[in-house]
Amino acid sequence: MRLRGYFTPIVQYARTLRAISPVAQQRFEGSTMFTDTSLGQQLSSQCRRSIPWQRATPLIFSQHQCSAFHHHSVARDLAGKRQELAHSIHTCRCLNQEMGTVEGTTQGRILKGKEYTCIQAELLEGGAIGLITLDRPKALNALSEALMKEVLDALQTYDADPQVGAIVITGKDKAFAAGADIKEMKDKRFVDAYASRFVFHWNSISAIRKPIIAAVNGYALGGGCELAMLCDIVLAGEKAMFGQPELNLGTIPGIGGTQRLIREVGKSRAMEMILTGKHFMDAEEAAQKGLVSRVVPGSNDALLAEAISVGKQIAQQSKPVVALAKECVNAAYEIGLQEGIKKEQSLFYATFALEDQKEGMQAFIEKRKPDFKHK
Ligand code: CAA
Repeated sequence: MRLRGYFTPIVQYARTLRAISPVAQQRFEGSTMFTDTSLGQQLSSQCRRSIPWQRATPLIFSQHQCSAFHHHSVARDLAGKRQELAHSIHTCRCLNQEMGTVEGTTQGRILKGKEYTCIQAELLEGGAIGLITLDRPKALNALSEALMKEVLDALQTYDADPQVGAIVITGKDKAFAAGADIKEMKDKRFVDAYASRFVFHWNSISAIRKPIIAAVNGYALGGGCELAMLCDIVLAGEKAMFGQPELNLGTIPGIGGTQRLIREVGKSRAMEMILTGKHFMDAEEAAQKGLVSRVVPGSNDALLAEAISVGKQIAQQSKPVVALAKECVNAAYEIGLQEGIKKEQSLFYATFALEDQKEGMQAFIEKRKPDFKHK
């Protein structure tokens, strides 16, 4: 098998890892996952020397690195577990094929020492963009409790990271997300759902202050559509399909679908989608109605690249001003016009307390780019 050819250098790489430094070795031996950049760089140069295909595609390395970290226990006993390691290499190669055209991205399941199993979370563009990829493609990214916990955790991690200027959420293969996990919730009784406040915590997404961009391709149904609507900007791929099919299952949308869809597409269309459980909305119509901001032609890679590019543009703005603007726009959703205008006015006044407002206006007058300090 072709992968076997790569295995020897991986063994060397793992051995090298142990030899790098006592700190590295300690971390390697322990259960802590690796997120150390300098360690990553050392590993990177080791791997590039020994594995030719990584030279051409740094993304493979980065995923490979994460896989290798993920398999730190494997490396302790490489000889006995070749199969698993080969599998992780194979996985990273497949991922790279999907993501290969997006320059400068890295992928991984470990974010700031936390390991995820249902999503990939990684920092891109020098830490300015936090990417979350929903990663249960076999179940069309059905939103299990575990997946949503990880999404929230990654969102909160990015929100707390001062380097991050915008967050991108995307799906995989043919689905953004096909809704809440039906298999997981089918046996719930009213009392279970009520007592555990089932799905309630999903609403914490609306408390995230950093802008969230959804890159939606394929199915965004039920909870998947609601997740997209919880984001601040939705970009759609050509194959995006939005719908609220909950009534087909004998239930109703539970994460704000009945409230948000009507605001996006109007009462009549929202009623048609929700009450029939059919009449999904394709990307073109979603753009016409304003459910998404626009359709990005081309592949999933092109969509993701565009979402990252929008994120970069936002990340260049003053972070506190972005947060104030997001709060104001979202207020329009939640409160009446007069209250909303009052809120906007007070936050508008608040921007005059920022150094970034002084810098932004001075830069305009001096015909130069503003140098925001985010304060
Ligand atoms: N939950 C759990 N598993 C799901 C799922 C979901 N929401 N959606 C798809 N899957 C699983 C399927 O069971 C199937 O698994 P198996 O291979 O183990 O059988 C796998 O994903 C692939 O799905 P299909 O074979 O059905 O794929 P398809 O291409 O034929 O159809 C689809 C695609 C039209 C999206 C179809 O899967 C579908 O209708 N899914 C359910 C959509 C839905 O009803 N979503 C609303 C969920 S309820 C909700 O979200 C409530 C809320 O507001 C909180």
